[in-house]
Amino acid sequence: MGLPVSKLIAFLAIAVIGNTVQADAAAGEAVNLVRASRQAETCSVKDYLADGEQLAKNQSIQSANQAFQLIMQSDGNLVLYRKRDAKALWKSGTDKDNERYMFATMEVGGNFVIYGSTGQGRGAKWSSNTNGNPNAVLSLQSNGNLVLYTATGRVLWSTGIAGQI
Ligand SMILES: *[C@@H]1O[C@H](CO)[C@@H](O)[C@H](O)[C@H]1NC(C)=O
Repeated sequence: MGLPVSKLIAFLAIAVIGNTVQADAAAGEAVNLVRASRQAETCSVKDYLADGEQLAKNQSIQSANQAFQLIMQSDGNLVLYRKRDAKALWKSGTDKDNERYMFATMEVGGNFVIYGSTGQGRGAKWSSNTNGNPNAVLSLQSNGNLVLYTATGRVLWSTGIAGQI
C-alpha cells in the first residue's frame, strides 16, 4: 500500500526544504570560513600599533609584506628583524633592564614606551619621547623603517633604517 498523495507531497516538500536549509547552512559556513581566514590574515600581517596597544613579551608586529618583524623579546629587548636573514636592524637595548614582565606600548598621548614590571606610568626603560601627540601611530613599513606618525601623518620618530629588503 502506497502513501496517500497528500502525504507524499508533504514529504517531498519537507525533503526539498531540508535540502535548501542544508545548502544555506553550507554556504553560511563557507562565508564564515572566508571571514575567519581574512581575520587570521589581518592579524598575521598587523603592521602597526595605535591607541594604547601593547606588545608583551614574545608578541610582535610585521610589515605588510612580511619582510620585517618587530618583536618584544623575552630577554626584554625590543628588536626589529629583517626576516630573510634574521638580521637585527634596530633594537631598544632594554635587555639590560630585563624584568619579568616587560611590554612596549603605543600610548594614547603619542609616546611609544617600554615599561618593566612596575608598569605603566612608572619605570619606563625606553621611550620615543614624543608625548603630546594624541592618536599617533607606530607603523612598521614594508621598507623596514619603523616610523611613528602623528594623526596628520607627520613623522615624530623613526629608526631611520630602510631599504634593506
Ligand atoms: C617566550 O618564548 C620563549 C621561547 O619559546 C619561552 O621560553 C618563554 O617562556 C616565552 N615567554 C613568555 C613571557 O611568553
